[in-house]
Amino acid sequence: MTAIPPFRLGVLGSGKGSNFVAIAEACAAGRLPAQVALVVSDVPDAGILARATERGLAAKFVPPGKFRTKLDEAAEAAYVAELRAARVDLVVLAGFMRILKGGFLGAFPQRVVNVHPSLLPAFPGLEAWRQALEYGVKYTGVTVHLVDAGVDSGPILAQATVTVRDDDTPESLHVRIQQAEHDVYPAAVGAWLRGELEVQGRRVVRTPVAGGGADAA
Ligand code: GAR
Repeated sequence: MTAIPPFRLGVLGSGKGSNFVAIAEACAAGRLPAQVALVVSDVPDAGILARATERGLAAKFVPPGKFRTKLDEAAEAAYVAELRAARVDLVVLAGFMRILKGGFLGAFPQRVVNVHPSLLPAFPGLEAWRQALEYGVKYTGVTVHLVDAGVDSGPILAQATVTVRDDDTPESLHVRIQQAEHDVYPAAVGAWLRGELEVQGRRVVRTPVAGGGADAA
């Protein structure tokens, strides 16, 4: 990140907003060197907007346009304009259920992050917890990644595993995955904002500490 802390976050979400709440609480507690500058939803009555408003944060519905799974061209421009007007340094997807295309991603290069409820590349797409249960895996989990033009395909910043239990239902597994998300997402966003991670092709590695290491005087 070339910006100066405290970083300004723009959060996009379509649902209840529990990951947004985890990020906002990490900011408020000083665990993230950031503040939520704006929350945007493509769903007018999404819980995430209410969660933001009750915290006194700027929150707005921005119409997504005519498509079901992506933003149309005018909507993409409107989303970029809102986030730029809020001087956002990093775009944090928190259950935003639309694919972002090049027009949006080009406006925020390597500055869009997402949390996905599986160990990618397994189970991209919708209801990943249900896909994992139906497939029969014994472990699934959480992935935080940079967003590229594919579906849940960008370089991976962090992952955590969640054990699948014999008596799990889709709902019970989703609850434990979400608990893991609420720890892993703020931690990974913090590491990315602090410059502790760097991208090397597909891999994201810890940034070497200048003059550090066991032999440093
Ligand atoms: C989260 O579980 C997130 O991983 C998932 O939506 C949920 C949003 O919950 N995102 C995706 O599946 C994206 N592919 P929240 O609104 O409570 O944060």
